[in-house]
Amino acid sequence: MTEKFHQYTRAKAIVQQIEQLAAITEQSGCVTRRYGSPAFVEGAHLVAQWMQEAGLQTRIDAIGNVRGRLVSPNPHAKTLVMASHIDTVINAGKYDGPLGVLMGIDVAKQIGQSTILLPFHIEIIAFADEEGVRFHTTFLGSQVVTGAFNPQLLAKQDADGITLQQAMSVFGGTAADLPNEAIPANDWLGYFEMHIEQGPVLDNRNLPVAWVSDIAGQKRILVHLTGFAGHAGTVPMSMRQDALCAAAEMVVAIEKFALQQPNLVATVGTLQIPQSASNVIPGNVHFSIDLRSNEPDLLANAYQQLQQLCTHIAQLRNIACNWQLVQHTAPVAAHAPFTQLLQQAIAQAGFPDVSLVSGAGHDAVPISQVAPIAMLFIRCYKGISHHPDENCNDSDIAAALQVADNFLYLLIEQHT
Ligand code: HGY
Ligand code: MN
Ligand code: MN
Repeated sequence: MTEKFHQYTRAKAIVQQIEQLAAITEQSGCVTRRYGSPAFVEGAHLVAQWMQEAGLQTRIDAIGNVRGRLVSPNPHAKTLVMASHIDTVINAGKYDGPLGVLMGIDVAKQIGQSTILLPFHIEIIAFADEEGVRFHTTFLGSQVVTGAFNPQLLAKQDADGITLQQAMSVFGGTAADLPNEAIPANDWLGYFEMHIEQGPVLDNRNLPVAWVSDIAGQKRILVHLTGFAGHAGTVPMSMRQDALCAAAEMVVAIEKFALQQPNLVATVGTLQIPQSASNVIPGNVHFSIDLRSNEPDLLANAYQQLQQLCTHIAQLRNIACNWQLVQHTAPVAAHAPFTQLLQQAIAQAGFPDVSLVSGAGHDAVPISQVAPIAMLFIRCYKGISHHPDENCNDSDIAAALQVADNFLYLLIEQHT
């Protein structure tokens, strides 16, 4: 019983840290901490302090990941990474990302303070850019750690024309340092990420945790429409090349298409009208499409069909349509037997064997290319996420800590 109280006490301490980190934001009154912003840098240093206090060998790497290691007495041991991200979307919730980082630090701290002779190294990582809000490319931090980072991305510019290379210099990092930040492929024991579900299933089924079977693939597209700006009062309706009306027709057509597909989601999350004015016919519009499915063929077909649909609408309206695939990640399945050990840990904690497909992307996606992955989902309030009402209760975090403790213990037993 004391163990449960201990996990509950740990959970409450984690929630206090969540609140402390959430107060570090670019915009007062809401949580926004984009990659490389002053708020991000301040948050990274706070997480680094927590890692140090937990007894981890801590550093901030060249891309801005915060990394804390618990070293095994065996110098040739492999490394288990427990991680998530600390960058956020705009007006974000407090738990998406930070919860997994703080729980990882806590679990590592318990092990470090025990008498266990660790048969593998543990590295806790707070990834610097999972959301991809600033540069529209997700997983920058985790791709550096896997060695898959594409240096061409360094020239990508944010909305203010600042390049990724310029942005990362705030961490003292240079492009030349990046390859050295990778964990070599044969050093990986595995990757474990704890994350809120960001969906309603666990809340509906009144369950605290579930393991993740698959992570949906995603395509991020930017569509640039060019019509012809004109005077709102003088150009007859039949003679207009209105880029916004074309975009509006495309947005509704995209939604209608996705509603007819059982296992696809499509979202137009951003739409801009540069140099807009109420008395000017919009000549230029650009918008984003976020397309996801855990079925690779369905995702590929939907991409093709939507591109044809938008091109056709543009042609009928005499609008130029530039379709740009900005990012693609294939669907990923969790790895047995690594995940089977997590299932065992869930059973030991007395919870039912429930698995979920993740519609959200996670740093586990790029890492699955170099290491076996396992993800634990934790119930969040009504499944709300990417929203200020995102929340998670102490007892569910305590339940997840119980599973995580079991999982680490099983891994240690397996490798001792
Ligand atoms: O968009 C996502 O799936 C994640 O929150 N980055
Ligand atoms: Mn996340
Ligand atoms: Mn997110």
